[in-house]
Amino acid sequence: MTTSIDLPYFDVLLEGLRQGHPDLSVGFGRHVHWGYWDDAHRPDGSMVDFAAAAERLCRRVCDAGSARDGQSILDVGCGLGGTVASLNERLSDVKLAGLNIDARQIERARREVHARPGNEIVFHEGDACKMPFPDASFDVVLAVECAFHFPSRARFFAEARRVLRPGGVLSLCDFLPSKLAVPILRAQDLVFGGYVRNVVGPTDVSIPLDRYLGLAREAGLTPAIEEDITRNTLPTYPILQKIALEMGVHGLTAKWGVGAMGLVSRLALLRYLILTFKKPAA
Ligand SMILES: C[S@@+](CC[C@H](N)C(=O)[O-])C[C@H]1O[C@@H](n2cnc3c(N)ncnc32)[C@H](O)[C@@H]1O
Repeated sequence: MTTSIDLPYFDVLLEGLRQGHPDLSVGFGRHVHWGYWDDAHRPDGSMVDFAAAAERLCRRVCDAGSARDGQSILDVGCGLGGTVASLNERLSDVKLAGLNIDARQIERARREVHARPGNEIVFHEGDACKMPFPDASFDVVLAVECAFHFPSRARFFAEARRVLRPGGVLSLCDFLPSKLAVPILRAQDLVFGGYVRNVVGPTDVSIPLDRYLGLAREAGLTPAIEEDITRNTLPTYPILQKIALEMGVHGLTAKWGVGAMGLVSRLALLRYLILTFKKPAA
């Protein structure tokens, strides 16, 4: 099956899952994003612990968006369907939609994720910046760690506003540089840009918070919640380095690239934020 975006890490992931690679299956068979740890949940370095941390992060984004029973909820950039699966397990009488630009991921999500009685699930292939849904279709739009891939945050915000009902909420998590860090990250890109292009694919983590919120406002969305969870995500980096070396594909580049990203995150130059935005009710 062809796909309209080049995401080398998903090539490795999907092939590893197809082969039943144990660590990949446990750690990345459901969610494909960072984990969340707090004082009640200390990291132990295992894939089982990482998977639990990834589920916690997903739930925090859903909870920030006030996802609840009876709603119509869209998960944009839905990966393998992990967020939709989580909502389906926890909520009742919900209509859940997943959208992903990568047909292979959609195929797997359709195979693996099935609605509980009373819920509905549909997975669509499509672009977050040109969504295949009518206006005012959803109460909540989620975007878990995917907006950094999108060709334009501005177009994504405009689309999220369009498909949300009045009073609806967009909840997302994304990587944002501190203002100070923009030139540093640009310099870092000269060194690690190769890793990003070869392993991660299209990536833009250059928009600081004030500009990010400005883009959302220009699209007609009102910023609501802003939560910096950088510190809570840091145990993700050794896990990613371990899996990159285990997989051996782009292994060393990935190890150094992930190491550099972990370092700029520890220095709070690159921040991991949960952000929510409201579409005005009237
Ligand atoms: C880091 S993964 C996160 C996946 C999922 N949200 C999760 O948390 O497990 C990024 C996702 O964004 C998707 N993606 C990238 N660009 C996209 C676009 N323009 N429109 C829709 N999805 C996109 C990728 O295919 C991938 O599934």
